[in-house]
Amino acid sequence: MERLAIEIDALRISVLKGKEREVVYIHGSGCDATLWEKQIEEVGGYAIDLPNHGKSCAAEIRDISDYAYFAAKTVKKLTGKAVIVGHSLGGAIAQKIYLEYPKVVRALVLAGTGARLRVLPEILKLLKEKPDEAAKIISKYAFSNETLASDFTRIFAERAKVLHLDLTLCDKFDLLDEYRNGKVRIDVPTLLIVGEKDVLTPVKYSEFLRSHISSAEMVVIPETGHMVMLEKPKEFNEALKNFLEKCDI
Ligand code: COA
Repeated sequence: MERLAIEIDALRISVLKGKEREVVYIHGSGCDATLWEKQIEEVGGYAIDLPNHGKSCAAEIRDISDYAYFAAKTVKKLTGKAVIVGHSLGGAIAQKIYLEYPKVVRALVLAGTGARLRVLPEILKLLKEKPDEAAKIISKYAFSNETLASDFTRIFAERAKVLHLDLTLCDKFDLLDEYRNGKVRIDVPTLLIVGEKDVLTPVKYSEFLRSHISSAEMVVIPETGHMVMLEKPKEFNEALKNFLEKCDI
């Protein structure tokens, strides 16, 4: 695995690189590219640190389209076109990339995400007022594995400010009506992956996407929660590799 620095508008976007493959991973709220280490090692491709995350530079981000802009430009520089794999907030960004920069998208993998990502108002309030407590609650919701949950409690507490921004953007993300009335139409191969016990983006959210994306196939991974790529990397990678093979990538 190696680190690359890609320059977008004079800003450094840091990328983790595995074996060359036209696959680009986008992490969720308060996380970074290292979330995808198990996928990079086994499947290959590139994982982006979004602006304000990991080793990437700070940037003014006002909505999910701003993240989509940096991510799409990074994809263009890395491989021209790629399968975009997004988790949670990253899945919302992947949908926006497809809608706003379709030329960089070969296929989509939407993991633990949805067409709308409302966030409990109490969590947003607590993140500002008592970040340690908020981090504990978010980790508890995010993981079914207690060891991983306690590691991420610390990580989320340290990153409370950017986590608050990310979750605020998630809360505003809403394409439900656009999918329903046909304004949003996804015409590339799409894989949906979700943990059976995901309480943050429940299976229902992926079922909604499956019923509105004609090409979508869906894999529900048993006995796991929201952080499915970390909790069940073997099952996640199997689903991803099968999909990539079908897409000839
Ligand atoms: N796909 C399909 N259906 C969805 C959806 C999605 N992405 N998002 C919401 N809906 C549905 C809900 O299931 C609900 O359906 P129902 O009326 O049949 O029960 C309806 O749309 C309205 O739900 P929602 O937008 O969530 O509003 P709400 O006022 O019912 O609840 C919250 C708001 C914040 C309490 C709720 O979204 C929640 O519990 N969120 C916690 C999880 C969280 O913080 N996730 C973080 C995501 S990153």
